[in-house]
This record gives sequence, C-alpha cells and structure tokens, in this order.
Amino acid sequence: MNVLQVSAEIFPLLKTGGLADVAGALPLALNATGCQVRVLLPGFAPILADLTDRVTLAELVAPWGEPVRVCQGRLASLNLPAYVMDVPALYQRAGTPYEDAQRQPFTDNDRRFALLGWVAARLAAGLDAQWQPQVVHSHDWHAGLAGAYMAYLPPQRARVANVFTVHNLAYQGLFAPRHFFELGLPASAFSVDGLEFHGQLSFMKAGLFYADHITTVSPTYAREIQTPEQGCGLDGLLRTRAGDLSGILNGVDEAVWDPATDAAIAQRFDARKLEGKAQCKAALQQALGLAVQADAPLFGVVSRLTEQKGLHLVLAILDELVSRGGQLVVLGTGEAALETTFVQRARTHPASIAVRIGYDEPFAHQIFAATDVTLVPSRFEPCGLTQMYGLKYGSLPLVHRVGGLADTVVDCSLEDLAEGTANGFVFNNFNAHSLSRAMARAFALYAQPATWRKVRNRAMRQRLDWSQAASQYLALYQRLCH
Ligand code: ADP
Ligand code: GLC
Repeated sequence: MNVLQVSAEIFPLLKTGGLADVAGALPLALNATGCQVRVLLPGFAPILADLTDRVTLAELVAPWGEPVRVCQGRLASLNLPAYVMDVPALYQRAGTPYEDAQRQPFTDNDRRFALLGWVAARLAAGLDAQWQPQVVHSHDWHAGLAGAYMAYLPPQRARVANVFTVHNLAYQGLFAPRHFFELGLPASAFSVDGLEFHGQLSFMKAGLFYADHITTVSPTYAREIQTPEQGCGLDGLLRTRAGDLSGILNGVDEAVWDPATDAAIAQRFDARKLEGKAQCKAALQQALGLAVQADAPLFGVVSRLTEQKGLHLVLAILDELVSRGGQLVVLGTGEAALETTFVQRARTHPASIAVRIGYDEPFAHQIFAATDVTLVPSRFEPCGLTQMYGLKYGSLPLVHRVGGLADTVVDCSLEDLAEGTANGFVFNNFNAHSLSRAMARAFALYAQPATWRKVRNRAMRQRLDWSQAASQYLALYQRLCH
C-alpha cells in the first residue's frame, strides 16, 4: 500500500505542537504494518537541510504563476522518503511556519499551503513515474486543499483514495474570497458544496468536504465536532458526513518518549525501577530553585499557552495548590497575557512555582520525568499527547473530561481504583471548582503512597504505542482502495 502523508510540520525537524509528533511517528508505524509511506512537506529550512540524496523531481508553475521546484530525497533523521517543495520565496522566512516574528499570520498563507495540496494532487495524478500513491492522507487545514485539487485537476491515472485527518478544528485556514481566484480551482468549487464558508475560503472545509474519509485523532472528538458546541461552525457538514467520519486515537512514539532510554533526563527509569524518577524530581527542583522536597507533589504543565488549553483554571487554583504543599512547573509559550501572569505568580512563590516561557524539547522531557502529576485542563482537546507522555513517565494526568483526554484517562474514583482501571484524575465541569476537586483527589491519593505507586505503575505499563492506530489507518486505507 503506497501512502503519501501530507503535513506542514514533522518532528524532529519542525514542530509547533502535536501535529508534528504525529506526522513524524505515523509514517514509521505504518511502514511497520507493510505500507510504503512517503511524506510531502513544504521546503522550510530545517526540512530541506535534512533531505539527503536530493534530486529535482519536477519544475512546475503554481496556479498563480510562481515557479515551484519539487525535490525528492530521503529525510535523514527519519530515514523516510520525502517530497519537498523548494520555493524559498514562500518558505524561507523568519518566524514560525505560520506567523511572522510579530506573531501575525503571513498574508500569503493561502498560497503557501494551497501549494501543499496542489503538489499532493499532482503526485496523485502521476507526477512521479517511479511511485504512485494509492492513498493521499492529508493533515489539518494546511493540507486541506489536497482533496479539492484531486477532485478537479488534473485527471488521475489511477483512483487514489483521499483521507483527511482533523487534528484541530479550531484552526481552519480562512481567507478572503479574493484569494480563491488565484488558486486554480473552478469557480463552482467556491460554493456551499465546496470550500466556501460564510463567504470566505476555508481550507478546513475543503478538507472535510472533498475527503473520501475524515478521521479525527480520538473517538470522542469525532463525536464532539458533530455538535454545535464543538463544531466550530462545521458541525452541520460533519453530521452529513457522519458515515465517513471516525476517530483513531494517536499513540506515543516510544523511540522519543520512553523514560528507560531518554537521553534528555537526569536519570533513566522504568516501571520496575523508579529511583531514577526521584532523582529527576530532585534535579529539576534544584535547577529551578524550587524547595528540594521529595514529598511535595510536583505538578507540571507543558503546553501552548492558548485559550484552548484552559490554563486560566490553573491560575485560579494556584494558591490552593501551593497552600496544600504542592509545587508547579510550567513550560509554555503563547498568549502574552498568560505568559505574563504565570511569570508573575512564579515570582510571588519562587520556592513552589517555576515558570519557563519558551519552547524547549529536552526541558519538556525533564518535566514529564520529574513531575508527579501532568495538568491538562483543556477546554477542548482533539487528542492531546502530553497526558500520554505523563502516563509513560509516571506523571499521572489530571485532565478535563473532553476529547482524547476522556479517551485516555480514567479517574481515581473508588470503583476504578478497586477495578484497577484508574490512571489519573478527571474533572467533568470546565470550571475552577471542578478542577480544584480533582486536584484534591490527587493530593488525597498522594497521601497514600502505596496506592499512588500502584496507580503509577499501571499508568507506566499501559500500551500507548502507535501500532494500534497504524493498524486502524491501514484497515481504513484498504477499505477505501477496494
Ligand atoms: P497541541 O498539539 O494542541 O499543542 P498536544 O498535547 O497534542 O497539543 O501536543 C503538544 C506537543 O508539543 C507535545 O509534544 C508537547 O510536549 C509539546 N510542547 C508544547 N509546548 C511546548 C514547549 N513550550 N516546549 C516544548 N515542547 C512543547
Ligand atoms: C492538535 C490537537 C491535539 C492533538 C494534536 C495531534 O494540535 O490540539 O489535541 O493531540 O493535534 O493530533
């Protein structure tokens, strides 16, 4: 089964969030099931720099007249065949893949990402005489036009299935209608039955509308996005496509996230030998100027600091967390107001709260390794990876019952403790009171070390690798290609 994976980011080369983790792990997991996966990526500097055995596959002209070189080679860091669009004018810029240094979206993002879908469609149509994808699997709005281009141009030699995965419906890739006419799609596509969304051009809607099958990154999120509360205005369309919509839970890339082999942490450990975890905790407390106290429950947050992540609830219960004798470490970057408030709170309680603003991959590993609890109080969460990293590293997740968090964390209620299914703490209502009660449960369990150890042991042994998801994707591809 030849599968072309299309995404804007890929770990370890370029990452702003969980999308990159998935894009980096899923191809290798699929290859292990017998698929032959190639990836298509924009030519951001770190991606081009990693591309070995590079040759030019084609020199094309984008629908708006811009020359496009499509390169082909192998990503050295992943040992994965890749196609990369080498267009320096579009991709070689300061800032994130999506925003300039002032955090403003680039004004030509429509072209920068339309190209991703356009080249995917050209590959589906036989651009590479040596390799024909049977499935084009695109991720999030950046790759959302792949299905639209496959539907309209150019004719495909073979039938190619088109799968679209929603990682986050809240980011939709909306553009003013004037941009539509430079993208080379027929005028009829700019309609309710197409990629028009309230008068604008929506890459996300295109992805949903033209896909043969839509997946989301957890079963619960697949249901939630069909409701007005979580459908971001697209729930109607998603309900009409309910028969072609399913949730496949992400996994954990154990080559990257495993405390037994992790080179970034102070001391390695596993479920059988946890001395290393205590050493990681002491090392982090010391490094951050927190009181070095083995018995202070240490809570951690590794997150984008955005509205989605519900971190204002953490601010609301912070005094209680500290007065109960807990500690908190935060690593994040995002909205200025959240950054400032967290930094201020750390200043008032330097022995109990440490906040680092920024993006720091090794530090993220150290936090999961050191902490007792991983806080993920998201308002909504399509899948969420950090709660799963918490489980792997024995940092019990404390989460809001939503999306993939609901699918991966079982609260330490008396019955679930008794039945041996509990692995963390879950709150139902998205408010500070409900979070505070879950935190109280965490403190109560922490005060019973034997039970805590039992739950942690079970959490660390849970199977979270990518193999289950990979076989579900494979089964889907096979069904669509029949
Ligand atoms: P999302 O994709 O919505 O941000 P996920 O939980 O799926 O949420 O994935 C977040 C990923 O980004 C995880 O790999 C997490 O460790 C990482 N991450 C988030 N913020 C930071 C940060 N400030 N520094 C390092 N890694 C981070
Ligand atoms: C998105 C979601 C997150 C998910 C990730 C990877 O960024 O916000 O919940 O885990 O994609 O699928």
